[in-house]
Amino acid sequence: MGRIDGKTIWITGASSGIGEALTYQLDKKKCKLVISSRKEIELQRVKANCTHQENIEIISLDLSDLNDMPEKATLAFSAFGQMDILINNAGISQRSEIINTDISVYKQLMDINYLGTVALSKAILPYFMKAKNGHFVTVSSLMGKFAGPQRSGYCGSKHALHGFFDVLRMEHEKDGISVTMICPGYVQTNIDKNALTADGSPQEKHDIENQNGLPVAVFARKMIRAIERQKYEAYMGKKEVMGIYLKRFFPKLLHRIVVKSTE
Ligand SMILES: NC(=O)c1ccc[n+]([C@@H]2O[C@H](COP(=O)([O-])OP(=O)(O)OC[C@H]3O[C@@H](n4cnc5c(N)ncnc54)[C@H](OP(=O)(O)O)[C@@H]3O)[C@@H](O)[C@H]2O)c1
Repeated sequence: MGRIDGKTIWITGASSGIGEALTYQLDKKKCKLVISSRKEIELQRVKANCTHQENIEIISLDLSDLNDMPEKATLAFSAFGQMDILINNAGISQRSEIINTDISVYKQLMDINYLGTVALSKAILPYFMKAKNGHFVTVSSLMGKFAGPQRSGYCGSKHALHGFFDVLRMEHEKDGISVTMICPGYVQTNIDKNALTADGSPQEKHDIENQNGLPVAVFARKMIRAIERQKYEAYMGKKEVMGIYLKRFFPKLLHRIVVKSTE
């Protein structure tokens, strides 16, 4: 694809964290942006911080309202009459052990992280096919490639995204459509505060690992480079990225390291 400057991009989860940081950096690159999440007031705040506000359209949505996605896609496409990239960034995490976790928490994680992302992507797909151009960028996690305790439902939802988007890439490469999976390690956002606990209530506190993670602006810059290079998968973090290679070549060693580090 080359440089991202001036492209039309739809970012979900733009009211906070990674999506907010991406919005500011892409605004500087004069991209036309559709920004989405549930909290419209937060999206207004993000828009107000941008330099080129005429290039920013707000469409509020809740990813768990799966049937709303076709209408949201029509609105997003008509905002600027085209769409080059969908950044599926919105998501929630989890901090609870399997034995205690209510099944409703698994449903919520799958509805938002997996099914919502699938529904939104399916809704924009016909527009990308018609234009013979389109790039799906999905923010998964290192937890979409290996696992960590207290994140069983989160890991399941992120692993599932890789299966779906690997197939989408295979079926639609011929239509000029590409797919990039972004796998962050720890990034300094509110993902840990918003993480669901065993009964579905948010954890409401930061974890030391996240707060020692990559600063969100640094992460967003790396992510934009990976999008421009049209990488199939990009792993971004600190030493936790090693888990990818340990999982591939020494899975039992990775298991022992993770269990020991969380004892
Ligand atoms: N930070 C990390 O260490 C880390 C690591 C690995 C992966 N990730 C992934 O990065 C992505 C962004 O997370 P973040 O770190 O930036 O966390 P964040 O600060 O909590 O932001 C999450 C965003 O998702 C939106 N969202 C949550 N539920 C939604 C729903 N039902 N419908 C629509 N939007 C919803 C939130 O907005 P509203 O509340 O306004 O809806 C918010 O804008 C997530 O997919 C996460 O899994 C983050």
